[in-house]
Parts: sequence; C-alpha cells; structure tokens
Amino acid sequence: MAVTTTPALDAARLRADFPIFEQQIHGKPLAFLDSAASSQKPRQMLDAMTEFYETSYANVHRGVYVLAERATEGLELAREKVRALLNAPSAREVIFVRNATEGINLVAYAWGLSRLGPGDLVVVSELEHHSNFVPWQYVASRTGAGFRMISLDEQGELRLEELDAIASEGNVKVVATGVVSNSLGTINPVERLAAWAREHGAIMVADAAQAAPHRKVDVQAIGCDFLAISAHKMCGPSGVGALWGRAELLEEMEPFLTGGHMIRSVGADGTTWGELPHKFEAGTAPMAEAVGFGAAIDYLTDVGLDAIGQYEHELAAYALDRLAELPWVTSYGPPADRRAGIVSFNVDGIHPHDVAQVLDFEGIAIRAGHHCCQPLMRKLGVAATNRASFYLYTIPDEIDRLVDGLHKVKKAFA
Ligand SMILES: Cc1ncc(COP(=O)(O)O)c(C=O)c1O
Repeated sequence: MAVTTTPALDAARLRADFPIFEQQIHGKPLAFLDSAASSQKPRQMLDAMTEFYETSYANVHRGVYVLAERATEGLELAREKVRALLNAPSAREVIFVRNATEGINLVAYAWGLSRLGPGDLVVVSELEHHSNFVPWQYVASRTGAGFRMISLDEQGELRLEELDAIASEGNVKVVATGVVSNSLGTINPVERLAAWAREHGAIMVADAAQAAPHRKVDVQAIGCDFLAISAHKMCGPSGVGALWGRAELLEEMEPFLTGGHMIRSVGADGTTWGELPHKFEAGTAPMAEAVGFGAAIDYLTDVGLDAIGQYEHELAAYALDRLAELPWVTSYGPPADRRAGIVSFNVDGIHPHDVAQVLDFEGIAIRAGHHCCQPLMRKLGVAATNRASFYLYTIPDEIDRLVDGLHKVKKAFA
C-alpha cells in the first residue's frame, strides 16, 4: 500500500480473530468489502455471547435468583460500556434499542410528535441514510412541521452557507444529521451543526451508526442531544443498538413503546412510567446481544478507535488512488483526508449490480444499490453506485483484488 509510514494497525493479525475469513468463496479467499452494511464478528465477541448463554442466561431485572442476577449484571455492565464509549454523563441515559433506526424513531415519535407543529422546521441533510430521513419526514408530515434538507456541494459535503436561509423560513426545532455518511464516507461537521441547533433552541440528533465503529464518538464534545448507534456495524451482534439522550429531555418525553418492564405501576385507572432508562425499554431486553455489544466495545477499545480511524483513512486514500488508475471508473465523495473508509464508484456503462455479481465470483463482496440514500443518488444523478467499505480487518491486498476484479468486469461487458 502506498503509505510512507507503518500502518496504524496490524490488520493481517486482527483478521485471525474473525472466523469468517477461514472460508473460501467461489474457491477464492473472502475479500469482505461491505463492512458499512454490517461488520464481521471477532471470536472474542462470539465467545462472550456463548458464555453468557451457557453460564448466565435468565431473564433480567425481575428475578432474585443467581442466574437472573448474573444476567442483569451482564446487561448493566454492557450499558456502562456503551456509556464509556460515548463519554455519556450517565448510564441512565443509554437506552438499548434494536438498532440505530429504532433509536431515531424513538426520538422522532416520543419527542417529535407532541412538540412539532405548523411553523416549526425539521432539518436533515441530503446525505442522510433513510433511517435519519424518513422518520423525520414522516413526523413532520404528521404534525404539520416543515421539512428541509441541507444540500451537498460537488464534493459531497454539506453546504453550511444555507443554514441562515433555512432558519429564516421557520422555527428550527430539530437538526438531524449523520456523523459519517454511509454512502460517500463524508465526515460531517456535527459539532457546528449542534452549535447551530443550540443557537436556535432546537435539538440535535446525531446518527452515529457509521461513525461509532470507526472513530471516537463523544456526545459531550459533539454537543448533541441524542445519538444513535447499531452494534452490528461495530463487531457486535445484530438485534441491538443504543440511543443516548440527555436525561432532562428523556425525563420529560412520553414513552415510545409500552408494555412490560417500562412501568412503575399499572391499574385500571392508569399507568405510570418507570425510571430511566427502563421507561424506554419495554419488554424483554436483548440480553445476550447486549453482552455481545459490550464485548465488541472492549475489542474495538483494545485495538484503539484512533488507530482504526487512521488505518481506514489510509485504506480510503489507497483505494481512491487505485481507482483513479481506471479512467472508466467514476468515484464520488470528498478527498480521502475528509472521509472515512468508504468508497462509492460506478463503472462506465455497467450496472452496479452486474459489477457486484462479477466481483462475487472473485470472492469479493461489495454492495451495489442506493445504500438507503435515494435523495443522495438523485443528487449524484445515478440510480445506484457500487460501494467498497473497509474495516480493521481489511488488508490492502483486497483493494488490489478489487481493482483486478474491475478489469475483469470491464472485459466481461466489453
Ligand atoms: C449512516 C447510517 N445510519 C443509519 C443506519 C441504519 O442502521 P440500522 O439498519 O442498524 O438501524 C445505517 C445503516 O446502514 C447507516 O449507515
């Protein structure tokens, strides 16, 4: 790889922690370049879940026997690990949800439905994943609030110069943006957007689904009010994520889902809600998943999020350089130093699905489609792109194989 210094981490060594790489796909070593969709899992995380099921499994919180207490400890320890990862002031502010999408919907429904109305504005960006776009658009349409998008410049970065014009159109009540774009890898200026939201008395909702796996995310440094993440993108299991929210906002919000566990008292004449975080955790918790999430956080913290972020920058720079050798390939998004380890591109005249299909025969997994970013695709003037995304187990050889594979794609469709 064209880096002048020693790589920030030893990906070849870390790969040995991931059993999935022990197999071949179509007789070739697996080159998994789709970590932005979901990451692969280290043995340390898998072992933690197995051990929990084998030694500590019972339903949490309501039992007074040893297994129930162990399970509760496991869940609450995982909550504390999420708190520490995000530098949140209190573990009471960390709510386990199914994924980032559910976390954002929780805020849109439980904060937005009763607080938004005509004359108010919800502001998202043109770069958003549908998970941080559709819930806001929906809640705006239900409440009569306006819905605005901060548009993108030619490099796929937010046009912050539009903010004043947007603010002149109504009362800005919600600013909801991603920290890192899943499609272009753009790193958004969320601290500035949070400050702008504060100036206007709005809440700032940060979608960190694509950031938390790859760099340090600090809710206090960002200055946001809510932040959502998904474990499955950060070496953890599917089925669990976390929403962090400021306690004072969570306290005054109505619940999102109701039922078991989230109550204080229930009677025919009414029900009162439990304390944080339980008020927002109706039903049986994702217990083993939370334990796996905690183990994944330990794994990432041991490797070092700064090293992971730095390594992915190096991979993105290398991939962009190598793709630039192919005049029939168009890459999208900002320069490598302003993006995470994600590269979206198209091959002239060849549909992204065909590209991905040919690469699959080479054992290379990339994603083709709109990446849940249809507004962005419209902006780029394409229906879909190919996307290669990298993680701590990606080795430069896989990027070389991608480029070789693209030559084969070109030949196959010549
Ligand atoms: C930026 C971003 N936000 C939100 C999501 C939604 O994550 P999940 O499907 O885990 O809820 C994704 C998933 O691709 C994403 O990349």
